[in-house]
Amino acid sequence: MTTDVHPAPAPAPTPLSLDRLVELTAATARDVRRGLHRIHYDAENRWSVRLHGDAYADVWLISWTPSQSTALHDHAGSLGALTVVSGTLTERYWTGGLRERALESGGGAAFPLGHVHDVVNLAADPAVSVHAYSPPLTAMSYYRVDGTGALRRTHSVLTHEPEPDAVVLDGVPTRADAP
Ligand SMILES: [Fe+2]
Repeated sequence: MTTDVHPAPAPAPTPLSLDRLVELTAATARDVRRGLHRIHYDAENRWSVRLHGDAYADVWLISWTPSQSTALHDHAGSLGALTVVSGTLTERYWTGGLRERALESGGGAAFPLGHVHDVVNLAADPAVSVHAYSPPLTAMSYYRVDGTGALRRTHSVLTHEPEPDAVVLDGVPTRADAP
């Protein structure tokens, strides 16, 4: 008996490619810079609004006041991309270890399936970014780096919201923590 092993990763469950999502966020970021969308800033709760949604993709506009961040998370079965409209964001992402890169205005990042990252505004000024997910987000998992330096999933949630805030579950047993 043999096991059929496919050398290439399975395609994402969407007709849109990562390149298409990058184009989508870049084009929407240009619209935002032209003043087509109103931006709000909220130092208490990170502000976001869905600019577009259909069966294939969601597009979100997000503002980040200084020090606002997410937690380490993935995007479940969705591909994603972001373009920075203004300011500078820092992305920490997992590639066998945590790496960090600055995302400047006009730049951005693409999130293939399995991409685990955290986004934070380490700058002194607010930042604004456009994010797209395809298929539209339905779930995310959260992670932490354990004492051995390994990535460990802590829990998963059903959500349509982009780039979730940090969630503190210290001391709270979760299903994902079960053996
Ligand atoms: Fe994300």
